Amino acid sequence: MSEKDLCKQAIAAIDRAYAPYSGYRVGAALLTADGRVFTGCNVENAAYSPTICAERTAVCKAVSEGARDFVMLAVAGGKDGVVDGAFPPCGVCRQVLAEFCPADFPVLLVTGEDAYRRTTLGDLLPLAFTL
Ligand code: THU
Repeated sequence: MSEKDLCKQAIAAIDRAYAPYSGYRVGAALLTADGRVFTGCNVENAAYSPTICAERTAVCKAVSEGARDFVMLAVAGGKDGVVDGAFPPCGVCRQVLAEFCPADFPVLLVTGEDAYRRTTLGDLLPLAFTL
């Protein structure tokens, strides 16, 4: 699975976003060591705080299916699902990723239909808290 293909899967996952309150539609695609891809979308809620981000949807889908060996993550999102710049993971999602992924874990921030910026979890969350 190429980085570009994973980005495409993140973009495709935007279609399944449930975001009637913010209008920000987000998709994520998480590649595992055995070649599986778990996608996720944000799932909003009328009470707001129960809202789940796309990245955590993908992580929870994977872990609940027995996959924990993650290779790379792609994230795409924007207002009304229009991807016109990076939509970086929120702090809570960074912490959840740090539970399973090392500092050099690649995170692809999709910036357009055929463009992305590559960063790492360590850059996004330096000095991560783990036990
Ligand atoms: N959101 C994500 O899906 N991922 C992030 O890392 C940042 C925020 C969602 C949550 C909410 O539905 C919308 O984007 C606006 O915050």
